[in-house]
Amino acid sequence: MTPPRTVLITGIGRRIGQHLAAHYLAQGDRVIGTYRNHTDTVARLEAQGLIALPCDLTQTVDLARLVTRITQLTTQLDAIIHNASVWFDDAECAADPNKILALYAVHVTAPVALTLQLHTALPAQSQHGQAGRLVVFITDAQCLNGGSAHAHYFASKAAAESAARSLAKKLKPHTRVNTIAPGLIMFHPHDTATERQQRLAQNLLPFEPSATAIAQTLDYMLACPALDGARITVDCGYTA
Ligand SMILES: NC(=O)c1ccc[n+]([C@@H]2O[C@H](COP(=O)([O-])OP(=O)(O)OC[C@H]3O[C@@H](n4cnc5c(N)ncnc54)[C@H](OP(=O)(O)O)[C@@H]3O)[C@@H](O)[C@H]2O)c1
Repeated sequence: MTPPRTVLITGIGRRIGQHLAAHYLAQGDRVIGTYRNHTDTVARLEAQGLIALPCDLTQTVDLARLVTRITQLTTQLDAIIHNASVWFDDAECAADPNKILALYAVHVTAPVALTLQLHTALPAQSQHGQAGRLVVFITDAQCLNGGSAHAHYFASKAAAESAARSLAKKLKPHTRVNTIAPGLIMFHPHDTATERQQRLAQNLLPFEPSATAIAQTLDYMLACPALDGARITVDCGYTA
């Protein structure tokens, strides 16, 4: 039996983050998850064993508090999953430039700062050339291609891809840093049947994979010690 791991996941309040937290709790891991609002979902995960910590990633004071709390809670951190995200389109960014700052703060600045601060406060170990910690940035399958309505969003996710590669070089050999680049994983409840059908028709595999597909990819990254500085696209073969 493998000993329980300690896993930090940002943005566990809904959807993929919620699923990942439940997935690793069910495997017996110790899961620390961040949230902005203490919702019923967060409370349910806490009842399953989640250590829930408040953190708005756009606030440096919250980040510093988070690092301090984590160092009080554990001496070992096996994985950091940068899942939290915002999805502002260009019209929203034009109306409020603070949204552009938020995109970069949540996708790039805060995850990089958190990774480095935790590296200092809780150093990972390397054994026989293998890394003791895995860091994963969840980006976006289309971020390197861009998109006409989401230039800022895609640019910030592309910056996260670059930051992950730099961190892999900076933190070797005790920390591996990879990215998972999802395409369509889950529809939003407000997506109409027509919108869903049109979107699925753009994939070689026309189904909605659900957050399970991200957990499966993360399981693989955790299990395969040779995967570093790598990007796995999970998009059902998007072709448009
Ligand atoms: N779902 C998909 O089909 C899809 C496709 C491509 C990429 N992805 C990527 O996969 C990841 C998860 O996707 P998702 O659909 O589950 O995302 P989501 O529903 O938008 O949830 C994002 C999470 O990030 C948190 N968050 C947002 N701003 C934050 C801030 N300033 N500080 C701290 N937390 C903040 C949210 O917290 P609150 O609950 O407090 O708002 C929420 O828990 C994201 O990185 C996303 O870009 C998903």
